[in-house]
Formats: sequence, structure tokens, C-alpha cells
Amino acid sequence: MLILNITTLCCLCVVANETREYVLISCVYCREVWKFILLRLDPVCNLFSSWLQLLSWLRRGSAAAPKTMRTVVAQAAIFSSMASTQQTQQRSSQPRVNKGHKFV
Ligand SMILES: *[C@@H]1O[C@H](CO)[C@@H](O)[C@H](O)[C@H]1NC(C)=O
Repeated sequence: MLILNITTLCCLCVVANETREYVLISCVYCREVWKFILLRLDPVCNLFSSWLQLLSWLRRGSAAAPKTMRTVVAQAAIFSSMASTQQTQQRSSQPRVNKGHKFV
């Protein structure tokens, strides 16, 4: 679907609408990041299926993965997802022209 001529699809996978929940929890690319994180910090935890499950995981601390560490790692994962979507959006947009030079 296009709103203001901008696609609403997730720009990483182009499969589903780009919602907070989708981009940060459900998108196949983001799930790979969470798999890696959970493998290291909390191997018995299943992948999150909702934003609320992520928040609940953040509130549960353990000796191996205290709350502060979970929060910092989650912030890094969210930042990484947002940076990836921005980079993908920039790559797919037209090359920008500045002072006669093209940026690629
Ligand atoms: C995206 O959202 C719009 C508006 O709710 C809906 O019409 C469309 O089917 C959705 N697209 C996908 C791929 O889910």
C-alpha cells in the first residue's frame, strides 16, 4: 500500500507492513539479530513474538544477563534495525545531487 506515495512495506524484507512490532520483533532480519542475542544471553528463552514479550524479557534479570545488560543490548539491537532500515531506504532512493556531484 502507498501512503503519500511512500510504501508502507518493511524496507528490509518487503513482505509485511512496516510497524514497530514488525520491524523490531518479527521481520526475518531482526529475528536473526534476536536469535544471536538470546543464544548468548538467555539460551532457554524463545524468540519474542510481540513487543510486550520483549519488554517482559527486559524486566526479568538473571545472574548471566542482568537487566542493565539486557537493556543495553536491546537498545543496540533496535538501533541496528533502525540503521539498517534507514540505509536500505537511502540506497533505494534516487542518488542525491549536491553542488553538481552525485552521491551513491
Ligand atoms: C498494509 O496495511 C494496509 C492498511 O491497513 C492494508 O490494506 C494492506 O493489506 C497491508 N499490507 C500487508 C502486506 O499486510
